Amino acid sequence: MTKTQIERMLMKRSAPSLVLIGFMFVAGAMVVDYCPPATAQSAAGAAVSADDLRPLYAMPEEVAEGKRLASTSCAGCHGADGINTNPGVPNLAGQRAAYLYIEMKAYQSGTRGDSAMNNAVKFLSDDAMIKVAAYFASLDPPAPTAAGTPVNIDPVQAGKTLAVAACAGCHGNTGISQIPGTPSLVGLDPKYLVDAMKAYKNGQRKNDTMKAMLASVGDGAMNNISLFYALQKPERTKAPAAGDQAAGKDAAASCGGCHGDQGVSASPATPSLAGQDAQYLAAALQAYKSGLRADETMKGMVAALDDKAMKNLAAYYTAQEPKAPNIRKPLTTVEWTQRCDRCHGLNGNSTDPRLPMLASQRVDYLEKVLHDYRTGARKSLQMSAMADVLTEQDIEGLAAHYTRQKARAVVFVPQPSK
Ligand code: HEC
Ligand code: HEC
Ligand code: HEC
Ligand code: HEC
Repeated sequence: MTKTQIERMLMKRSAPSLVLIGFMFVAGAMVVDYCPPATAQSAAGAAVSADDLRPLYAMPEEVAEGKRLASTSCAGCHGADGINTNPGVPNLAGQRAAYLYIEMKAYQSGTRGDSAMNNAVKFLSDDAMIKVAAYFASLDPPAPTAAGTPVNIDPVQAGKTLAVAACAGCHGNTGISQIPGTPSLVGLDPKYLVDAMKAYKNGQRKNDTMKAMLASVGDGAMNNISLFYALQKPERTKAPAAGDQAAGKDAAASCGGCHGDQGVSASPATPSLAGQDAQYLAAALQAYKSGLRADETMKGMVAALDDKAMKNLAAYYTAQEPKAPNIRKPLTTVEWTQRCDRCHGLNGNSTDPRLPMLASQRVDYLEKVLHDYRTGARKSLQMSAMADVLTEQDIEGLAAHYTRQKARAVVFVPQPSK
């Protein structure tokens, strides 16, 4: 007998007093314990009420009524068996009963925004929603799909691979340049690095070498490369500096406000100068002055500087101690899933009936809703905090991961009468 058959049999025999158990007893209990916000808040963000759990107590006749309703009102989009191939439409088969009910109420009250669903549930009574939720939850969940890219995305490792292959020859293995005239890339904020790369690529910042180097590097790859460099231990370049450090220090008085007293900037958009290659620094100042490198702020700052003053400033900054920008190492897909699974259950098989199962859900739908949480189109206290920091590649990796997990139905067992 398969688990689903047992489940059906148990559901047929269901007594009014049921207890929901996870398919993985110990892991289940642990996962629920790890998820305090989910127990204090319903999925829709309102206080938990015992009402939300009512679909768990549906009797077989009610499930049968739910089936009738589903075949007339829902099957067209969601599939008769709760599994469908329509882009953007979630599978409902085996989804947790209380979650389905909570979401229908959210569409009905308008708190889940506008979609094809608002009309579909508009005229449903509370009872009807409970029954149809119980019906879809009782179905065999979909099989895992092979959609998406199944990689463990590690942004820093991916950045390293590209940087070593394409940039190290000039910028040094870990971004510490040894070639006079070529900048070090360590000690710079990832935002500044990405902006600089984009500026070369779109021609705003003129440099043929860098434009060619970045021609085939996409936005995601630029982010990864920048993270890699930002997480390396910075060091001063060993390339020599002509110029008078002490004179440069005096002249730098007018620069510290933006670039930091010792050339370590506190603002992501303003580059740090500490430890940077001196020849590059002097050339950059020249370029601002001549207008070759267009930046109104810096143009004003260098207008009165002559070559000698520029070399002195460069000598001063190159001798300062660089610092790594204050950023945290981003999570890999696997590290993310460990966090997601605390609420959504092992491999996305939630054991709390109010939380959605993610395993075997359609990949396009998973991507869509994660975007919706990020933009705020779909609101949830728990999910918005998560989704805000997800990058595009995190979303792709997570959606691919969960669509490939085996979905497991939740087993209902009758509680022995007291
Ligand atoms: C016209 C097509 C259409 C019909 C008919 C329809 N749905 Fe949906 N349903 C959707 C779409 C599209 C979404 C995803 C919308 C979104 O992203 O919020 C959805 C989402 C849902 C969700 C949320 C699932 C989740 O994982 O968060 C539930 C629950 C649901 N539908 C139940 C039903 C039920 C029950 C019926 C029948 C009474 C029904 N739907 C009829 C298109 C439809
Ligand atoms: C052939 C040598 C060479 C290679 C290879 C190279 N660069 Fe450069 N890079 C330079 C030079 C020279 C400059 C200074 C250009 C200028 O004056 O604007 C520079 C400037 C930069 C800057 C601007 C730094 C700042 O402080 O504003 C960034 C960012 C950068 N490169 C990133 C990269 C990345 C990423 C790669 C690999 C995909 C790469 N470079 C490959 C030579 C190279
Ligand atoms: C009002 C703020 C401000 C002040 C003051 C300022 N800078 Fe800048 N500086 C910037 C910003 C912003 C950039 C980045 C501009 C860009 O993207 O090209 C920059 C870029 C630079 C760069 C290019 C660094 C690189 O990695 O390519 C150098 C060199 C530099 N500044 C030196 C100086 C010096 C020397 C002074 C003082 C004489 C100074 N700056 C004063 C804001 C400032
Ligand atoms: C603190 C608990 C918590 C964590 C951690 C969490 N989620 Fe959720 N998640 C929820 C809740 C609650 C909902 C239902 C919210 C709603 O009603 O919109 C949800 C909904 C979702 C949905 C929508 C499912 C559907 O069928 O519409 C997706 C997709 C999702 N989460 C993915 C993730 C991913 C990926 C992560 C990890 C990056 C994650 N969640 C981490 C609590 C959590």
